[in-house]
Amino acid sequence: MYRTHNCGELRPSHIGQQVTLSGWVQTIRDKGFMAWVDLRDRYGVTQLLVNEEKSSPELLEKVRSLGREFVVKATGEVIERISKNDKIPTGDIEIMLTDLEILNASKTPPFTIEDESDGGDELRMKYRYLDIRRSPVQQNLIFRSQVAIETRKHLSGVGFIEIETPNLIKSTPEGARDFVVPSRMNPGQFYALPQSPQTFKQILMVAGMDKYFQIVKCFRDEDLRADRQPEFTQIDCEMAFVTREDILNTFEGLTKHLFKSVLGLEMADFPRMSYDEAMTRYGSDKPDIRFGMEFCELNDIAQGHGFSVFDSAELVVGICAEGQAESFSNKDIKDLTEWMQRPQIGAKGLVWIKYNSDPNDEMGRFRSSVSKFYSEDQLQTFADKMGAKPGDLMFVLSGEAEKTRKQLNELRLEMGRRMGLMKPGEFKPLWVVNFPLLEWDEESQRFFAMHHPFTAPLPEDAEKMMSGDHETLKNLRANAYDLVLNGVEIGGGSIRIHDRALQEKNFQLLGFTPEQAENQFGFLLGAFEYGAPPHGGIAFGLDRLCAVMRGQTSIRDFIAFPKNNMGRDMMIDAPDGLDEAQLKELNLKVEIAAKS
Ligand code: AMO
Repeated sequence: MYRTHNCGELRPSHIGQQVTLSGWVQTIRDKGFMAWVDLRDRYGVTQLLVNEEKSSPELLEKVRSLGREFVVKATGEVIERISKNDKIPTGDIEIMLTDLEILNASKTPPFTIEDESDGGDELRMKYRYLDIRRSPVQQNLIFRSQVAIETRKHLSGVGFIEIETPNLIKSTPEGARDFVVPSRMNPGQFYALPQSPQTFKQILMVAGMDKYFQIVKCFRDEDLRADRQPEFTQIDCEMAFVTREDILNTFEGLTKHLFKSVLGLEMADFPRMSYDEAMTRYGSDKPDIRFGMEFCELNDIAQGHGFSVFDSAELVVGICAEGQAESFSNKDIKDLTEWMQRPQIGAKGLVWIKYNSDPNDEMGRFRSSVSKFYSEDQLQTFADKMGAKPGDLMFVLSGEAEKTRKQLNELRLEMGRRMGLMKPGEFKPLWVVNFPLLEWDEESQRFFAMHHPFTAPLPEDAEKMMSGDHETLKNLRANAYDLVLNGVEIGGGSIRIHDRALQEKNFQLLGFTPEQAENQFGFLLGAFEYGAPPHGGIAFGLDRLCAVMRGQTSIRDFIAFPKNNMGRDMMIDAPDGLDEAQLKELNLKVEIAAKS
């Protein structure tokens, strides 16, 4: 028998009992006449004790021979600890060892396996099995498991069935590149790994399997960031005979259930906002609404006073940072301006107006980078429009509308961070609805689907889609929605086109010739000719949902074996080359152009 209890279980009520624990040696402290060992398993840490008075010399010797991460079986009596540790649940007791068996030795680990590790990201990913021994990573994985289990419970409770769809498929355009797999039996042909099960779940609706869901791996060959992995997991769903309302209610219900069952939090009904409103008020289609600092458009008061930067701009727009006039020195503002001017954001400059807290300040009511162009009274109109009070700091940006909004969104988020307005533990969900259907790309002179090519327009826009001119097409709204939580896009979906003619029209607008559409999506268009029901669905990013629920920004620590920013698995060292025989069998010839 390896254990009577685990390392997180023992309490004062066990005092006097003989117990056996098994686990890994986390730390050893040797004071000469006595020694302690912290023994760890997935459930916690328990302190073991030996001393010269009660333990045999052999046992003392054995304890002294231990190294970090040795695997041991420890037997002894639960006793009350003299100096208690209120930081851990087992901190009131310790085990007076009577026997110790070394089950396995360990090399010295390359980093400390404690809550705060001294290992860098890459090192921890290379030795992921050691990193996962750390409690914070384990807790994240356990959390993810709870979310997945509660998702299954809730969705099956409201009538969903879990159906698996294939991983070796043909490419489904969702905006990213596909990962491809060569077919040995079909020389020169490739499968693609699914970017999502989109077409399959729609076909399941045609097949009559209403209310499908799947917790499913998706693969996208795109540039990686903290919230993006090349393989990630979706909670993917589709329903037949539904309107948008049915889907939003169902998934709001799922989200509320997850918060309640896993975090014990009740959530109020989720507000909704149109894409246009989100862009105007926050410059983002995924606004963090834990805080205000909303955009205020200033063209009418900013233009016509001889400041050519504002005069020539399509949009002049500002935000007001409450109470920040004093806390931002000129140097801070200069640094912030440089931050805004980095290529990633690309602002040309940053106009600021400080509303002095002291009305009798010798510098007047305002200090500003544009006081040359605007009188005090004119600056007062800025303050009035932005709702600024003495002590507030206003920032104004100008330029082409869409770009300027995006830049101001970055500034708003940065100010939100600096001002501590993104409170951990506070959750503010938001449905963003009525996205544009099509996005025009000037460079390639073509439309792209904002969500994906199967998304239906709003019912009132369907007619316009069939016959509208270019301008009308640019303004078509999709029956699409995203769930945003604390500024993170958790999920997205849409009501689908279920009519072959409308779907063909969409492919045509997206630049597919009828042959290309038939070649890529003939199976779906064909299915639509056999009685496709009205349908729609949504997919949540499970990794992101978990990270946001735990107040974290990186999804990596919610994935047992994540990839680094170059898409590499550092532990197994993938991707990797193939040997000649394998390449030959796959009918592949690899030529890599030498780097000059
Ligand atoms: P979409 O592309 O919006 O929709 O994806 C749904 C959700 O998946 C998550 N997500 C990711 N998470 C981690 N890493 C990534 N690389 C990544 N890409 C996306 C996001 C996102 O909101 N088939 C449609 C859904 C539908 O229409 O039903 C789809 O895949 O949280």
